[in-house]
Amino acid sequence: MCGIVGYIGKQKAAPILLAGLAKLEYRGYDSAGIAIMENGNIEVQKDKGRVSNLCEIKEIENLQGSIGIAHTRWATHGEPSKTNAHPHTDSKEDFAVVHNGIIENYVELRKELEGNDYNFKSETDTEVIPNLIHYFYSKDSKNDELKLVRAVKQATDKLIGSFAIEVLSKENPDIMVVVRKDSPLVIGKGYNENYIASDIPAILSYTKDFYLLENLEFAMLSRDSIRFFDKDLKEFNKKSDTITWNAMAADKNGYEDYMLKEIYEQPTAIRETIGTRVNEGTCKFDELNFTKEYLLGLNQIYIVACGTAMHVGLAVKSTIERLSKIHTEVDIASEFRYRKPLVDEKTLCIFITQSGETADTIAALKLCKEKGAKTLAVTNVIGSSITREADFSIYTHAGPEIAVASTKAYTSQITLLVLLAMYFAQILGTMEKQELENIIKEMLVLPNKLEEVLKISEQIKEIAKQMYKEKDVFYLGRGIDYATAQEASLKVKEISYIHSESYAAGELKHGTIALIEKGINVIGIMTDPNLVKKTVSNIEEIITRGAITTVVINEKIAQMLDTSIFTNVVKVPETEEFLSPIITVVPLQLLAYYISKEKGLDVDKPRNLAKSVTVE
Ligand code: M6R
Repeated sequence: MCGIVGYIGKQKAAPILLAGLAKLEYRGYDSAGIAIMENGNIEVQKDKGRVSNLCEIKEIENLQGSIGIAHTRWATHGEPSKTNAHPHTDSKEDFAVVHNGIIENYVELRKELEGNDYNFKSETDTEVIPNLIHYFYSKDSKNDELKLVRAVKQATDKLIGSFAIEVLSKENPDIMVVVRKDSPLVIGKGYNENYIASDIPAILSYTKDFYLLENLEFAMLSRDSIRFFDKDLKEFNKKSDTITWNAMAADKNGYEDYMLKEIYEQPTAIRETIGTRVNEGTCKFDELNFTKEYLLGLNQIYIVACGTAMHVGLAVKSTIERLSKIHTEVDIASEFRYRKPLVDEKTLCIFITQSGETADTIAALKLCKEKGAKTLAVTNVIGSSITREADFSIYTHAGPEIAVASTKAYTSQITLLVLLAMYFAQILGTMEKQELENIIKEMLVLPNKLEEVLKISEQIKEIAKQMYKEKDVFYLGRGIDYATAQEASLKVKEISYIHSESYAAGELKHGTIALIEKGINVIGIMTDPNLVKKTVSNIEEIITRGAITTVVINEKIAQMLDTSIFTNVVKVPETEEFLSPIITVVPLQLLAYYISKEKGLDVDKPRNLAKSVTVE
């Protein structure tokens, strides 16, 4: 869950590394550091706090070296502090390492190394790595060009856990070695210069040609070459990929925060995700070769994910069941993997993950593969770890999502999964052609409807002003709107630190209504004409008890109700039932955003969180 960057070329490395770190800060932001190869010495500068603190260190300006590594940390072992910040060196200061991941056996390794006269300065798991490299390097009597990569390999052979590592060596001032296992790392190819990063946006402004390093592949980089080695150090040629994202997509582009930009990008993200998947009233997934026979043979579909991606599962579960008639379960990856799930070769397991790097989701996928199930990854990041494990991968085209709070990934994922449900229904013949055409027609105008929703941001700002000092807020919904309530509740929690709960409206009177007292804020989402009367009577029960109510409804629902009983009424365009979560969530994303702004919080980097959770 940390971010790493590297540069080897002819330019001054420090400014490139700092700019890369700033772009990766969403992966962790409690300390940061840099190591530059400076006249045959490794110069390390680091500090507690954000990358901006690091940038203020005067000595960094004087660093002229053109090879360096850098790190922004999300603490796992050892508190956030200058000493625990990366890069870490071995006790003789011959090697410097930055690391993303967790070394599970570091306590034993540290003891062994201490027994061999190595001293430790920090409380981190990482510090064993440069010391192990030193140990193996000094034991190796062969002084050839592969000596460093050999020492790194021997060191990583001892590690249990996950890692993406960059290594600098004093004795090898013109090269750098990198390796990864279960933590992401990409190499960007330039002209007489090469770049390394945890993910693509950090270095997208320098190159569009990337190598996606696989597990236990090593790379040895110089200014004008990149050599690849497999886990046995056998050299091989690797093909680069060209990324179509443009650099602007990874910038704020005039918006105050990434989250606001990403909320406003939703119409485009959805248009791009639909792309060419619909054609003359049918849905196309050419990369999936599912037959009618295979789908008929399924005992169930399992959707497994974490956080917002899991809420996507909740929002599409009934859509998949109703359109394709296949029983569908949704589970949280960290629970699923430990409870011996009933999955076999007749189960289709779908894993939703924006980053494609979430450790629990990837572990759940591996478990399903072991049980013989077919695995399908739904992700936003081409070449991400999950796509290398899954039998099939399908992509949202939301562009890079940088804000920790997920917004455009959520709505794009729902779009893609509704398309997938229709694709299953097409193959199985479980839907009338007309019904399919109606949903597709509605899907194609969805981006325009979202543009309409985004125009009500002033109203949402006003509601945020009424709410930002609250300690608690409740979200209610029934059916598909309950999924939206859960996602809206997570959004407000994570970026505005207001305690929030979401409930299926009918459940309130089974306990939670005891918490409702005068002045408490309750937000109701109502889009289903068949359920609205019931939800309204639940809301009336809480109005009677003094709650302040805000409802998100569409035009049709507005006509069915006396809306004067609610404190705030947020109206959104009507759409097809299965697509409604894509519309109703948007004002609630804006609400969480504006509450956070009113409170003066850092919207993009909420406390204690990081964008990609690559640890369990
Ligand atoms: O990259 P993923 O979609 O796998 O991430 C899953 C969750 O960590 C993520 O959705 C998280 O809940 C977001 N911060 C929510 O806004």
